[in-house]
Amino acid sequence: MRDVSLGAMAESDDTNLSAESSGADRDLFDKVVNLSKRRGIVFPSAEIYGGFRSTYDYGPVGVLMLRNVKEAWWRSMVQMRTDVVGLDAAILSPPAVWEASGHLANFSDPLVDCRNCGARHRLDKLDDPVVCPTCDARGQFTEPRQFNLMFQTHAGPVQGAGHEVYLRPETAQGMFINFANVLYTSRKKPPFGIAQIGKSFRNEITPGNFVFRTREFEQMELEFFVPPAEAQRWYEYWCDARLNWYLDHGIAPEKLRLRAHDADELSHYSSDTSDVEFLFPWGWDELEGIANRGDYDLTQHAAHSGEKLEYYDQANNERYVPHVIEPAAGATRTMMAFLMAAYDEELVNDDIRHVLRLHHRIAPYKVAVLPLSKKAELVGPCHDLFEMLAARWMVDYDETQAIGKRYRRQDEIGTPYCVTFDFDSLEDHAVTVRDRDSMEQVRLPIAELVDWLGERLT
Ligand code: GAP
Repeated sequence: MRDVSLGAMAESDDTNLSAESSGADRDLFDKVVNLSKRRGIVFPSAEIYGGFRSTYDYGPVGVLMLRNVKEAWWRSMVQMRTDVVGLDAAILSPPAVWEASGHLANFSDPLVDCRNCGARHRLDKLDDPVVCPTCDARGQFTEPRQFNLMFQTHAGPVQGAGHEVYLRPETAQGMFINFANVLYTSRKKPPFGIAQIGKSFRNEITPGNFVFRTREFEQMELEFFVPPAEAQRWYEYWCDARLNWYLDHGIAPEKLRLRAHDADELSHYSSDTSDVEFLFPWGWDELEGIANRGDYDLTQHAAHSGEKLEYYDQANNERYVPHVIEPAAGATRTMMAFLMAAYDEELVNDDIRHVLRLHHRIAPYKVAVLPLSKKAELVGPCHDLFEMLAARWMVDYDETQAIGKRYRRQDEIGTPYCVTFDFDSLEDHAVTVRDRDSMEQVRLPIAELVDWLGERLT
């Protein structure tokens, strides 16, 4: 399914909130984008060459957070379940896959150009189909043309017909074309699922709003294969489960909702779809789609490949094509929602404290080890402390600047606990542990530290 749009965005700067987003919380948006750059979470790509539009690089802190988002998803969708297995399929694939899936024929958006200002828009997302939202010109659009969103390239040294390949625009098809391989090797039977996390590529006409819509992004998708009669029940199950996943990872209920698609919004393959929506700074928008895809995908690939893609139910002596329920989320978009939801400011001693109140599982670092001073007598034992904790968790180590500034830096990247080693620590073998959210401090024996943190960092 395609995204609910934010409205068209002029081809300029993706880190500006789209101009059409009325009532948007621009302040929050700008603060999170600035914090991301300042603290090494997300950088605009190829910046030293002037930037490469709509691509982003995840910095030293961002790469940890993005991994944690994916790890949290994998944990609940694969690790904690007996009925789901994983897959890592190829990104490059031949046209036959996309012909069967319907992407060559259907995966396109209607594109119009404004003759007055040259801006390019998705026609289906314009508030008024004859007015250019960039320059307000009326009746200046070119005839709409369908623009296929797949990136095409060539395999091998010869270009031209017969050598085209596509970068996948979704991870889903990798699961469908491996259905039989997985079924026979994993010894699963419906209901069971195949999960995958990986990069997808779409030549979006209107990328924008930071990492919300980019041309290269990461998806986290599950294809859950069920007996046809159970499809509705599993569709409802996955709608609930996926909404709860975001709640369980710290997003407030008032910022989340489930919205069922109207009939005219449904994709060519889907009979029912609901989106988990998040209250982004510009309003409600899609985080994840849960679709009842019926038997569309397996039937299409069976017809195009000539392979049987069905399940033989020995107990009932019955052969059937499983139906598919698909919860499809974006990892990069989810990370952005976590950042927006966690950002907070408060006045502390006449100073504004910026804090990311991230769920522990999502926080880039779990602990920061901070020697009170750079003196060698503290730095040595602090490295030992770091090693002890780093064996269990991702730990930051910082000996620069005054301790207050270091606490604030850790607050800004969402580190739940700071452990300070001071001169008394040399004598009493204890450290001060500071809590990110309450800023409360406790003194703890080093010997008890791992257990104490282990009880809290679930
Ligand atoms: N297999 C179904 C599918 O791909 P989709 O709604 O097109 O469905 C699923 O994509 C999720 O992938 C979206 O809900 C969104 O989180 C993410 N996504 C899609 N296009 C994206 C883009 N251009 N940039 C970032 N994330 C995107």
